[in-house]
Amino acid sequence: MRFATAFMLTSALVLAACGEKKPEGQTSDAQSATATPTAAADSYPATPEGADKFVADVNADLKRMQPYFSSAQWLQATYITDDSQLIAARATEEYLAWQAKRIEQSKIFNGVQGLKPETARAIMLLKNVSAPAPSDPKLQSELATILSRMEANYGAGKWCRAPNDCLNLSDIEKIIDDPKQTPDARLAAWKGWHETARAIRKDYQRFVELVNQGAKEMGKADAGEVWRSGYDMPPAAFAAETERLWTQVKPLYNELHCYVRGKLNAKYGDSVVPKDGLIPAHLLGNMWAQEWSNIYPLVEPYPGVAALDVTAALKKQRDAEFARIRAENRSQTTPVQIAELSHQADADESVKMAKVAEDFYTSLGMPSLPPSFWEKSMLTRPRDRDVVCHASAWDLNMQGDVRIKMCIDPKEEDLITIHHELGHIYYDLMYNPLPPIFQDAAHDGFHEAIGDTITLSLTPAHLHRIGLVGPQKADPKAVINAQMKWAVAKIVFLPWGKLVDQWRWKVFSGEVTPENYNAAWWKLREDYQGVAPPTERSEENFDPGAKYHVAGNTPYTRYFLSFIIQFQFQKALCEAAGYTGPLNECDVYGNKEAGERFMAMLKAGASRPWPETLEKLTGTRQMDGSALIEYFAPLMAYLKEQNEGKQCGWGGQ
Ligand code: ASP
Ligand code: SER
Ligand code: ZN
Repeated sequence: MRFATAFMLTSALVLAACGEKKPEGQTSDAQSATATPTAAADSYPATPEGADKFVADVNADLKRMQPYFSSAQWLQATYITDDSQLIAARATEEYLAWQAKRIEQSKIFNGVQGLKPETARAIMLLKNVSAPAPSDPKLQSELATILSRMEANYGAGKWCRAPNDCLNLSDIEKIIDDPKQTPDARLAAWKGWHETARAIRKDYQRFVELVNQGAKEMGKADAGEVWRSGYDMPPAAFAAETERLWTQVKPLYNELHCYVRGKLNAKYGDSVVPKDGLIPAHLLGNMWAQEWSNIYPLVEPYPGVAALDVTAALKKQRDAEFARIRAENRSQTTPVQIAELSHQADADESVKMAKVAEDFYTSLGMPSLPPSFWEKSMLTRPRDRDVVCHASAWDLNMQGDVRIKMCIDPKEEDLITIHHELGHIYYDLMYNPLPPIFQDAAHDGFHEAIGDTITLSLTPAHLHRIGLVGPQKADPKAVINAQMKWAVAKIVFLPWGKLVDQWRWKVFSGEVTPENYNAAWWKLREDYQGVAPPTERSEENFDPGAKYHVAGNTPYTRYFLSFIIQFQFQKALCEAAGYTGPLNECDVYGNKEAGERFMAMLKAGASRPWPETLEKLTGTRQMDGSALIEYFAPLMAYLKEQNEGKQCGWGGQ
């Protein structure tokens, strides 16, 4: 994800850490950075000029305050303690106060004629917030504290299998992601992690009340409506748009679900995975069943036909690095010393993987990452403290202090994610020259789609060229294997990408009440994904809170949109590159024309309505699933054949 915290504008509030080197004259004490609006003006004349002045002041505020807010957030996310939480909550509180005040002030321009389009747009973007705060300072403070606490609870969450045997999320994922582990072990891991979310159930309930009050003060029905208002169309039209897109791609998911269920049924038997029902959520190789790449070996259409084991190659690199480091440090033999050397090997491999990703972007004509990126990013899980490992990309000062926070392991999933995160970073770098309020994506789905688009070029042939898989044969069976590998990541994600916010929209609107939080969550997971809770659940549980974006209050529809539009982007880049073959075999590596087109879009940031930006790249003003459908056409033909005569579906959908 891109970091724009719960309380921040989804737009310009990119972060700024005060680095150790500060330009002359820039003060660093918190006092100077507090969130009082820049201008003395408490009110503005209701004229176009007044609006221009207001927007200029908002931009100045953002530039000035950003480093302080960002630092506080970065500190909390990379060093979870009571102290960092206190500082982050305080910064959030100041930010919420600033934001509520600026949004209130902006109301004076409602209905004012003759605003410059960019001024009207800036005012619209100012209201695009993920945690609308009430105007009462006491409530702002309460909201800020809850937001920090929920995020920290996720980051520090542990499953204690026994006294003194506590596992963090990365450790737990090593169990649940691994199809070689027994179903019982994976079930225990699933339960263990989901237990950690119970602690924030009450907080979440209160959070909903608070942001809904904030939304009402903004003149919106509830916080969900605020979230749906950031797409250059009426909120109801946006909701309908997501339905339309889902209807377009749902048949693909149904075929894939049917095929995978058949494979799992054959492996585990009717009592574990029914032939015609829901798949238990702990057997799909992912804590949230949101991507199933880790069980690819179980569903590989033509076993052994294509060499696609990227994880094996990355682990091999990492182990070679470890051997090298050990050879250089023969005197270090205690368990603690060896653990430290092992960590060093992980860190080296993380950098290596990040450089593979950077290389793709520079091949398109984008700049190298600044040295500060390598100095200040957190690319490996530290050994000495709790951190929020969920990957994110940060722009700390809106002028080049970009960083990633991620706990990279030598595995394919993380190689993909690092490409994803760098997509955010290059967006940031490209739009940094714009006024702060326009330093954002055309819409938030664009931000999530940049790096993913790049990963679509990581074809088997490309992976072979960069030494991560063996030589590839031109063989239609190999194509089906490669397609299946992407399908269990990309197609599988779609229902999940949609349902997370279906749940939150219903919670915000009151259609789902706290008495039904968990039941409603599972109803959606059943309906959309066709998965079942692997063990009995009740309203004692708070399973949505076991997902980062719920605990961290990051809207999620952006990912659903991203997983659709990234195929549109890829098709456009391939066309720009003059490529005419099948979409699923296109690799734009090194193509400067594709790079130019992509960069033009990134540089526009949020300055124009997204349909216009989309049109410039793709020639169409609509988000559309047909590029995804085209991409997966060979696999769909295969799946239909495989599923023939089977009872597909799971009832109710
Ligand atoms: N970038 C991913 C997401 O947006 C990060 C991850 O999957 O860990 O949340
Ligand atoms: N990165 C997002 C997530 O973790 C979408 O893949 O959920
Ligand atoms: Zn992202």
